[in-house]
Amino acid sequence: MATPKPHRDSRLAVDEMTERQATREHARLEAEIKGHDERYYQKDAPTVSDAEYDALRRRYEAIEQRFPDLRTLDSLSRKVGAAPSRGFAKVRHAVPMLSLQNAFSEEDVADFATRIRRFLNLKEDEPLAFTAEPKIDGLSMSLRYENGALVKAATRGDGFEGEDVTANIRTLKEVPDKLKGKHIPAVCEVRGEVYMTKPDFLALNRRQAEAGEPVFANPRNSAAGSLRQKDARITASRTLHFFAYAWGEMSEMPAETQSGMLKWLKAAGFQTNPLWRLARSVEDMLAFHRDTGLERAKLDYDIDGVVYKLDRLDWQERLGFVSRSPRWAIAHKFPAERATTVLRYIEIQVGRTGALTPVAKLEPVTVGGVVVQNASLHNEDYIKGIGNDGNPIRGGTDIRVGDTVTIQRAGDVIPQIVDVVLVKRPKNAKPYQFPDKCPACGSHAVREEDEAVRRCTGGLICPAQQIERLRHFVSRNAFDIEGFGEKQVEAFFADGLVMSPADIFTLEKRDRRAEKKLMEREGYGETSVRNLFAAIDARRTIQLNRLIYALGIRHIGETNARILARHYGAIEALRKAMKEAGKGKETEAYEDLNSVEGIGEIVADAFVEFFKEPRNNEVLEQLLKEIEVTPMEAVKRDTPVAGKTVVFTGSLEKMTRDEAKAMAERLGAKVAGSVSKKTDYLVAGPGAGSKLAEAKKHDVAVLSEDDWFKLVGRA
Ligand code: IVH
Repeated sequence: MATPKPHRDSRLAVDEMTERQATREHARLEAEIKGHDERYYQKDAPTVSDAEYDALRRRYEAIEQRFPDLRTLDSLSRKVGAAPSRGFAKVRHAVPMLSLQNAFSEEDVADFATRIRRFLNLKEDEPLAFTAEPKIDGLSMSLRYENGALVKAATRGDGFEGEDVTANIRTLKEVPDKLKGKHIPAVCEVRGEVYMTKPDFLALNRRQAEAGEPVFANPRNSAAGSLRQKDARITASRTLHFFAYAWGEMSEMPAETQSGMLKWLKAAGFQTNPLWRLARSVEDMLAFHRDTGLERAKLDYDIDGVVYKLDRLDWQERLGFVSRSPRWAIAHKFPAERATTVLRYIEIQVGRTGALTPVAKLEPVTVGGVVVQNASLHNEDYIKGIGNDGNPIRGGTDIRVGDTVTIQRAGDVIPQIVDVVLVKRPKNAKPYQFPDKCPACGSHAVREEDEAVRRCTGGLICPAQQIERLRHFVSRNAFDIEGFGEKQVEAFFADGLVMSPADIFTLEKRDRRAEKKLMEREGYGETSVRNLFAAIDARRTIQLNRLIYALGIRHIGETNARILARHYGAIEALRKAMKEAGKGKETEAYEDLNSVEGIGEIVADAFVEFFKEPRNNEVLEQLLKEIEVTPMEAVKRDTPVAGKTVVFTGSLEKMTRDEAKAMAERLGAKVAGSVSKKTDYLVAGPGAGSKLAEAKKHDVAVLSEDDWFKLVGRA
């Protein structure tokens, strides 16, 4: 979600806000906070400090204190657990927590070994051993033990300063409170990785989703999110694990090699990863990388590569660091992973704008360290094996339910199906039939020319689109009911009080009958309810252009709504024409619509489609029982061209095309874009072409610009 630009209201003191300003600022803050939550929880990449975040939340809550109406059911302040105060004390690391350089190829690994030999001036035949360890994809942690007792746990942070998460870390079973063994150094900083297993991650996300809380993108983020809880009880409820593999400050070294240290860590009571090996050559290292890569999918935790560390600690010491990574270790990453799995079925999701999006439901499989169960299928053509440019993709192979497919994940993007393993295609697999009905509401779903997307036409009745349409319906350029904006419509929708536009206008009637009165809603008193009903009543009379716009028909923005309102004049005429036009493109009504200046075929089709859906008409009829629709604006009716249809063509010399149109419309004429037998006048400037011929064919009066001015009495 994009964070909106700071608004001027963002500087206003809460005490000085008007209700309108407060509503705006509250909504702005909500969007901003949600964005931060998403970056914090899902991406684990916050963009503000904890203090800044807390300030936003305090302001949000202060606004709700002053204007309780804003504290709707889905207010962020009602969400338990989603409002952790994020401040943790800072901890300076006694020894910085550095990162590793990456090797991506076999040569990179060979170069790494060569560099070490060269740096240490070792002979060719001098044995050189490395530990080879899996690189755990979690978050690194530094645990400080003094006299064998855990005193502080800190996250890596920027490497120099992390966050104090001692209370949270104490809830991990795999982090001992006391170190075991006889010879424990007075100061020991044990470092390693906190992680969550893949099954625990999936179970946590299921619980999060059920509770309406944010879900995590991968186990790494869920481990980070679970650990950074202000309330350690929450951390305790999430099973986190710890592998020890390194150290920071040590008052004494209990071993002389990395492998010796791993053994000591284990003896002291930590888990160390059981897969580590000693590699005595580059070949050994590469073999470990290969073997571990094959193991990867079977492990119940994520790894994103392997790490090689020079075994001898005295040599490590001599090699030291370059910038922020040691010269004695390197991470050998795994490539962006692909995996094959079976496509179980295709789910069609309906977006808030009615777009039907196919999603592949897969047998769960681990790809790039993440358990994948869904993959994007983009659209109908993609399933058929046709790309955006119309050219074949995957060699033109279509995707069928039951197919074994290759999926690829790159970074955090949604996994893609990159190929179909045709030899594994079940004999009875059939080409996928993309639905032409919306799965959410049953309305027909149509695909516009040149558009890859199929859309549901049941805008007003489709549950997937309802809330979005209602929000639009009450927006500023539509019905614009004072005190009944997006937030209120959402809350009333959630309560089942307003499901369709007409419901807004029957609120008062129903309120009088109902047992549970609006007045009993939180934040609503007698006066505010009275004001709300008055504000709704004030909008019972609405201009046609606003009504058309409010319907939220695709491609019909304010301008097109105005053009259409002017053209049809009244809602009855409009509906009659649409009923006709719905019968086909050859009807006069369709031709008439398509020839309206400024209305192209795409817009015309979207408009006709909307009225073709019987349930849209039902909703509109219910609404029309409650409201009165007036023509767009008073146009002069007693002029020589009132009610006539005029077409302008050629280059006009005394006025621009727009001026000409506006003038004709002001005088009550309809301006069309093409000549038909319904045209009364063709006003032709120099260079008029085919329209002139058309006019002759249909016996339409042809006027010069001057003739036109004479006709309307403005010579
Ligand atoms: S050694 C001086 N060993 O990888 C470097 N790191 O990119 C000490 N990691 O921040 C790190 N598994 O979070 C080391 N077996 C392992 C590791 C490992 C995962 C992470 C660690 C570190 C990052 C470096």
